[in-house]
Amino acid sequence: MSDIITVIAPVNIAVIKYWGKRDEDLILPLNDSVSATLDTSIMCAKTSVCARADFKEDAIWLNGKKESFDSPRLQNCLGEIKLRAAAEKSVSEDFLQRKVHVCSENNFPTAAGLASSAAGYACLVTALAKLYKVKSDVSSIARLGSGSACRSVYGGFVRWHAGINPNGTDSVATQIVDSTHWPEMHALILVVGDTKKKTSSTVGMRIATQTSELLKHRVKYCVPERTEEIIQAIRQKDFPKFAEITMKDSNQFHAVALDSYPPCVYMTDVSHFIVDLIHKYNTASGSVKVAYTFDAGPNACLYLLKDEVPKVISLIKHVFPTSKPESFITGLSSGEEVLSPALMSISEPQVQDLIKYVIHTKVGEGPTEITDGSHLLNEAGLPK
Ligand code: DP6
Repeated sequence: MSDIITVIAPVNIAVIKYWGKRDEDLILPLNDSVSATLDTSIMCAKTSVCARADFKEDAIWLNGKKESFDSPRLQNCLGEIKLRAAAEKSVSEDFLQRKVHVCSENNFPTAAGLASSAAGYACLVTALAKLYKVKSDVSSIARLGSGSACRSVYGGFVRWHAGINPNGTDSVATQIVDSTHWPEMHALILVVGDTKKKTSSTVGMRIATQTSELLKHRVKYCVPERTEEIIQAIRQKDFPKFAEITMKDSNQFHAVALDSYPPCVYMTDVSHFIVDLIHKYNTASGSVKVAYTFDAGPNACLYLLKDEVPKVISLIKHVFPTSKPESFITGLSSGEEVLSPALMSISEPQVQDLIKYVIHTKVGEGPTEITDGSHLLNEAGLPK
């Protein structure tokens, strides 16, 4: 049997956003957040790990390139896994001394600005936990890699509890419902063409924490109420309520980014055009059928129920003409539906290629071990 462990892990997109830390080293957030985990068959990170007595150094290869193992976040994750393994006495002292090789890749373009660090760290930490036979909850270890990664440790809908302990032991993720609870929940990710370098999440939230008055109000009054309300909407499968809270929370997060000094601007004109389009679509539909949410970049994530997908895809194709029709809609297959004149008239077609492509996906499961032998490391423990 091979001593290599390989895991795939999902991306998650928050509906109640994490923005602001109370401890930067331990990555402890100012507020709770809630997300949906997305299907690994469409987007995932894949990581192979292996520990051997003859390895000379800890080594990591990311998307085919050797990277430094010195990053504090990486060190913290490996260090915490080993501490847990030692406490749980799950492996021998000798095994703990061994150096480790890690090889990881994403099946979606990192450059697209999609939540790649969340999937990457959830994958790394789950693989290491299996390698070192750690049994306790690993969400707080994934959190040390990237805050949002702790939510990718579970499938379905997930809550990250901010916690109150200074050492972060209660800052963990828990599953609200698994992926079978609301299988009709789909997502369309609209990748907006944009090359401008944005302020990283880490830096953006540091500036917000230091300067935004609105963030204080959000943390104290808005998020606690919204978190309870959206969890109830998820449990009751109340889409209009879920969608309204999702959109309001995305808008408030970007308002906080603008309220930072200097301000951080993540959404572009195209992003704002999408916001407007979705509101018009909901109005024309007579009820809230689609929600948008934006992370620290211009791409839109639309949450909608499966039955609505063909109509919304037709609308997107009508409004955003593409020069690459064959690769414009990727991921899950879905039909198209002829739009009513009322929906056709909500917007004129825009100039070509404002949206690069669309990823159609749905809510899915958490990290999974791959047992078919398709490791990223070869028998010598080096990238294949
Ligand atoms: C806007 O988890 O990338 O996507 O903890 O500094 O690594 P660090 O930040 P990160 O921030 C994600 C912010 C967000 C909102 C969210 O996912 O909740």
